[in-house]
Amino acid sequence: MTIIDALGVSAYANPEALLASDRYSAIPGAALSDHGFDAALQEISHWPGYQPTPLYRLTHLAARLGVHSIDYKDESQRFALKSFKALGGAYAVFRLIQKSIALQFPGVQATVADVLSGRFKRAVAALTVTCATDGNHGRSVAWGAQTFGCRCVIYVHQTVSQGRADAIAAFGAEVVRVPGNYDDSVRHADQQAQVHGWTVVSDTTYEGYREIPVDVMHGYGVMAREVVNQMPTAPTHVIVQAGVGAFAAAVCATFWLAWGGQRPRFILVEPQNAACFFESGLAGQPVAVAGELDTVMAGLACGEVSPVAWDILRFGVQAYATLADDFALQAMSLLAKPSAPDPAIVAGETGSVGLGLLLAIEKSPELKQLLGLNAHSRVLILGSEGDTDPAIYQSVVGRSAEQVTA
Ligand SMILES: Cc1ncc(COP(=O)(O)O)c(C=O)c1O
Repeated sequence: MTIIDALGVSAYANPEALLASDRYSAIPGAALSDHGFDAALQEISHWPGYQPTPLYRLTHLAARLGVHSIDYKDESQRFALKSFKALGGAYAVFRLIQKSIALQFPGVQATVADVLSGRFKRAVAALTVTCATDGNHGRSVAWGAQTFGCRCVIYVHQTVSQGRADAIAAFGAEVVRVPGNYDDSVRHADQQAQVHGWTVVSDTTYEGYREIPVDVMHGYGVMAREVVNQMPTAPTHVIVQAGVGAFAAAVCATFWLAWGGQRPRFILVEPQNAACFFESGLAGQPVAVAGELDTVMAGLACGEVSPVAWDILRFGVQAYATLADDFALQAMSLLAKPSAPDPAIVAGETGSVGLGLLLAIEKSPELKQLLGLNAHSRVLILGSEGDTDPAIYQSVVGRSAEQVTA
């Protein structure tokens, strides 16, 4: 196997990738389904304030990088949360509330309007949801809990910025900081939930726990379904960032189910210091990456793959890549200050990494070749967040999100 390793980028082609012509059903035990994606879309599209986020064409950048086109899905405008994460945690909280109401009032399938009207206020208020987060997932769970009326306790690890912790607290959650890295905080949340009888709403699956994270992933599929509706033909390549892989697996499954043999080549990108999929792909089985997982891409600082995501990505990914932080920071600035006619876009450190990888092909023809990029390539990038930490955003880009889009 050839592994490219230069200038802050590493990449290899996944030897286990299924062929384009292989069907999604060839993935043994894949937990994500059209039915689950349909249900999430049906539910979330009725939430107040829902609207599909924009897909922008970056014409200048495509010409500069020598590809046919670059489309950028901009999640900076997703509900009040500025990231696709709003679709997952909050949806899982809503599903829990629905199930709890159905237990207390047999035969009742509460709608979002029922819950928001306060009709089941007491039943909802009796629930406490909790999770560990590196920022965005906890914000979504807290937002869902506040919107629908239940209690919420969120655990953050040491390197989560104060800005991100404050943003979670602003949605009414109790925020507790714990020692260790993200994976330690996941274990801590689980222990606390057992002690207090709370429900963990995690975005990662683990032994004996998958129903709720599968709801989270079906919620993320709403974003991918929007892309399918926004693109008349499938792109040839999609670059997707991975932390625990729930987002990437939801995108992979949605595109596979929608586009079948026409689905894009799937390129998975992670920070150099938190590359659990890259390492797992090499080993052919899940491998944990230990340590502080230090990266500016806060949402991707995860050392362990979600097993349900791994089951799908193991066969659905065509190439694994890792990237130095610098590329993501460069991409943030480039998106904020584009050359005409490209629009100015607000993207956080984790949101801009797909473009960061694309920028790396300018310096590495080997990478370009390995990823199969050429003048005919139609590339999709998922801008998964906006300025989820405004202070960090301003320190990188030199201007605030408001100034960038003014
Ligand atoms: C903005 C953003 N993008 C991408 C991801 C990666 O998602 P996942 O952990 O499901 O791989 C995260 C995770 O928190 C995130 O916050």
